Amino acid sequence: MLADLFEVKETTDKGKGLYARQLVPMGTIICFESAGYRIIPAEEYETMSDLAKEHVYQRVDGTYLAPSDDSKYFNHSCNANVLDSRLGFDIVVRDIKKGEEVTYDYRAFSFKEMECHCGAKNCCGFLTYEHPAPEKLRLFWAKKVDSALRQVNKVEQPLGEKVRYRIGVTE
Ligand SMILES: C[S@@+](CC[C@H](N)C(=O)[O-])C[C@H]1O[C@@H](n2cnc3c(N)ncnc32)[C@H](O)[C@@H]1O
Ligand SMILES: [Zn+2]
Repeated sequence: MLADLFEVKETTDKGKGLYARQLVPMGTIICFESAGYRIIPAEEYETMSDLAKEHVYQRVDGTYLAPSDDSKYFNHSCNANVLDSRLGFDIVVRDIKKGEEVTYDYRAFSFKEMECHCGAKNCCGFLTYEHPAPEKLRLFWAKKVDSALRQVNKVEQPLGEKVRYRIGVTE
């Protein structure tokens, strides 16, 4: 389930992408896998066209998942503004300005190996996947996610009750 804060627009060189309709502050929980996301059996995945595979990712447990919402339009950045928290949801790790592209780090799961055009200073150039991810990358993510988690109760949470239920906060 993706928070209703984004719109799909054409990027200059990566097909479609997701853009913030308003400022989305660090600490905002914007997405989690929901029941509507379809688990695709490996045998079915093997028969899918490359085009259909574009919106399917492989989780670290090996299963394939097809999001049913606009989260399928997340493009990758090696310095993403949204990361997998490892707590069952994706979190904004630095303020995303209105009109800015929302990006995710595909290396948290598996997708196709490809040249990266993210333009970040720390761009890896070519995307490959390793699980667990290299220590340097895990530390890079962990630092950002930790700082963002400290903001969770200080910013408005658009997924509201659904997030509280998800992360087990009862108060
Ligand atoms: C999950 S889709 C993302 C949405 C996609 N842009 C679209 O129009 O449907 C993944 C595809 O987006 C493009 N893409 C995403 N991030 C990219 C990046 N950092 N560099 C180059 N291409 C990227 C690649 O074509 C990739 O196969
Ligand atoms: Zn990159």
